[in-house]
Amino acid sequence: MAGIYLHIPLCKKLCFYCDFYHIISTGDNTSLIDALNKEAALRKDYIGNETVSTIYFGGGTPSVLSVQELGALLEQIRRHYMVAEDCEISVELNPDDVNTAFLEGLRELNFNRISLGIQSWRDADLKILNRRHDSAQAERALNEILKTGFENISVDLIYGIPGMSQEEWASILDFSFSFDIKHLSAYHLTFETGTVFGKMLEKGLIAQVDEEESVALFNTLIDKAEAAGFIHYEISNFGKPGYFSIHNSNYWKQVNYIGLGPSAHSFNGYSRQWNIRDLKGYIKSVNSGKSYFEHEELDVKARFNEYVMTSLRTMWGIDLEYVERTFEKEGYDYIVNLAGKFKDYGLIRQDKKNLVLTNQGKIISDNIISEFMIPVGE
Ligand SMILES: C[S@@+](CC[C@H](N)C(=O)[O-])C[C@H]1O[C@@H](n2cnc3c(N)ncnc32)[C@H](O)[C@@H]1O
Repeated sequence: MAGIYLHIPLCKKLCFYCDFYHIISTGDNTSLIDALNKEAALRKDYIGNETVSTIYFGGGTPSVLSVQELGALLEQIRRHYMVAEDCEISVELNPDDVNTAFLEGLRELNFNRISLGIQSWRDADLKILNRRHDSAQAERALNEILKTGFENISVDLIYGIPGMSQEEWASILDFSFSFDIKHLSAYHLTFETGTVFGKMLEKGLIAQVDEEESVALFNTLIDKAEAAGFIHYEISNFGKPGYFSIHNSNYWKQVNYIGLGPSAHSFNGYSRQWNIRDLKGYIKSVNSGKSYFEHEELDVKARFNEYVMTSLRTMWGIDLEYVERTFEKEGYDYIVNLAGKFKDYGLIRQDKKNLVLTNQGKIISDNIISEFMIPVGE
């Protein structure tokens, strides 16, 4: 079982917060599609003969591509990989790209999971974020997606946007849950270096919400999502039973995946590689047979860190039996000893043979995870 991720680095407008590799689209996608198709063929041995159980088109903005272009990419993947009959095929859509013909085209191609980038239902927030759409467009898009018969629908929201009050966040969640969505990804706004927001923060033109407020927003998120029947299965992800993102869950469960396209990451248990963050360079190198990625072999310490980092973010947590089997007594003792301290503070709880973050622990998950990391290469 393996996954394929395709990174479509094109956007019609730059969102001020976004650090994912993206550039403004010129409208001509041919050279990108050609290079992705070439890379799909070149990379097929990376996952051996494993069956592909998830395909995910992310970005950037995959919905800048036409149905024909998305279809050509899927066809190439089906030509070179063993794609499971019940493969989860997801695509991220921006609300203003959504129309009936496009959605029907996606259904014909067997896309069966939609992730809609709503971010907020408040027009003031969407303006601050420099989104292309307004809330009326997002509502129309979501209704259209439901009407076309898509069942597995996820929406993306961002909280902690400057000016967003606790009450506004609560009503954004309530309104989202008034639709028949099956999944929610909700991210706290981060100010990444190099983004417009990152630069504004450096110059003191924008401020991050304070910690107390962040905690309250996160608690509202958990309470409202759980009351609406969603399971909090990863720090930023909530799903109705049976509707967790299989693709993302596989990242956290160490399942192998190939990432195609500029900046895309790949993992096959023993190595990690990441394509260059440069569309022109990527296309040129793929076409001329030159190297377009960096590669890292993972030693046992790197694999240990990888496992702890990803598993601790999920509701399944660290599986101590797996740790003992894979990282032997030394790895097991290290984790159990360190976890003791966090258990005393109510930040980690033990659920049978699993160590799981409590809601209190989830708030400072990055700090807890970093304490578990062991220096690599020593
Ligand atoms: C790569 S983005 C693109 C998805 C889609 N093209 C769109 O724009 O809606 C995936 C999601 O990550 C989240 N995201 C990206 N950067 C973020 C940041 N700095 N802070 C919080 N959320 C962020 C947003 O919710 C976004 O929808």
